[in-house]
Amino acid sequence: MKSRIVKHSLLAALALAVGMLMLSVMSAYSQEEPKAPDVLKGAEVFQNNCAACHGKQGEGNMGIPNLAGAAGHVQQLGIPPEAAGPGIIQMLRGGIPGNMPAFPPDVLSDADIMNLGAYLFTLEPTTGANLYRANCSLCHGANAEGKIGPQLAGVAEKLPQIGLTKEQLAAGFPDLVRKGIPGKMPANPALTDVEISRLFDYLWDLPSLDSWEAKFQAEHGRAPTAQDKADREWSLAFLAANGREPSDADWIRRWQENKK
Ligand code: HEC
Ligand code: HEC
Repeated sequence: MKSRIVKHSLLAALALAVGMLMLSVMSAYSQEEPKAPDVLKGAEVFQNNCAACHGKQGEGNMGIPNLAGAAGHVQQLGIPPEAAGPGIIQMLRGGIPGNMPAFPPDVLSDADIMNLGAYLFTLEPTTGANLYRANCSLCHGANAEGKIGPQLAGVAEKLPQIGLTKEQLAAGFPDLVRKGIPGKMPANPALTDVEISRLFDYLWDLPSLDSWEAKFQAEHGRAPTAQDKADREWSLAFLAANGREPSDADWIRRWQENKK
């Protein structure tokens, strides 16, 4: 598992390094050089061939790696740009058996792939939530409730049990994410400092699964809005004042008062 993920991170980095390669090609030629990669065309190639799986902004999906932040991934892995072009072409031509379709030359030309690489290089790193979903959720659960890997939600409340401060946890986190846990958790060597700190902040802010927010999320399949929270406050205040939960009629009255 680990070596497979490392391999694909390397593939990603190779793929993404194409942009860097093209930048160096561009600077080697004059500005009129007609073969310079076309980022707009690359965006089109991406939307037509990759976005359905990797997300409209390259943000990734459950178990499908994020391609946003590509420029940083290449730098993080220390891949020389000149090694990139052939790597990405070969990878897309062959696909990833069982996981990703192959893109033969009649579907994507070499030029399409170069444009694609240049486009991917323009994508900013994605959010902590997206990074979690793409890289961690398959094992730790969609809401970090735990699956193959342990529950990660509610870590702030568990600090006394863990016996570490927030700062100590944060300090160890980059190594854990980049190196993984041999035989148990894959390495993510391509993720940058910025991405890892976004991931940490996301996990840190996840409420405990015993919280009202987490139960709401589990029940409704979405996080509570400001209105949902206000409704809850109101219903708790109602209970305290009246010794009973609000009835449907009480809710309708509140709703009508809110409309005024
Ligand atoms: C049908 C869904 C699907 C489509 C379409 C698809 N991919 Fe993928 N891609 C995947 C999956 C799944 C993986 C992870 C494979 C694995 O880890 O074994 C992946 C992995 C990758 C990786 C390696 C990333 C890493 O960090 O491991 C790159 C790079 C990549 N895809 C680029 C592309 C590009 C560019 C396109 C469009 C030309 C594309 N993919 C289209 C599903 C898809
Ligand atoms: C292939 C499954 C898998 C993936 C993907 C995965 N993990 Fe894990 N993770 C595990 C397992 C299994 C453990 C428990 C290891 C053990 O018991 O020693 C674990 C443990 C952990 C721990 C606790 C470490 C400790 O010292 O107790 C943290 C934190 C963690 N993972 C975070 C993440 C993050 C963040 C990601 C995404 C970048 C991620 N994991 C991706 C399987 C996975």
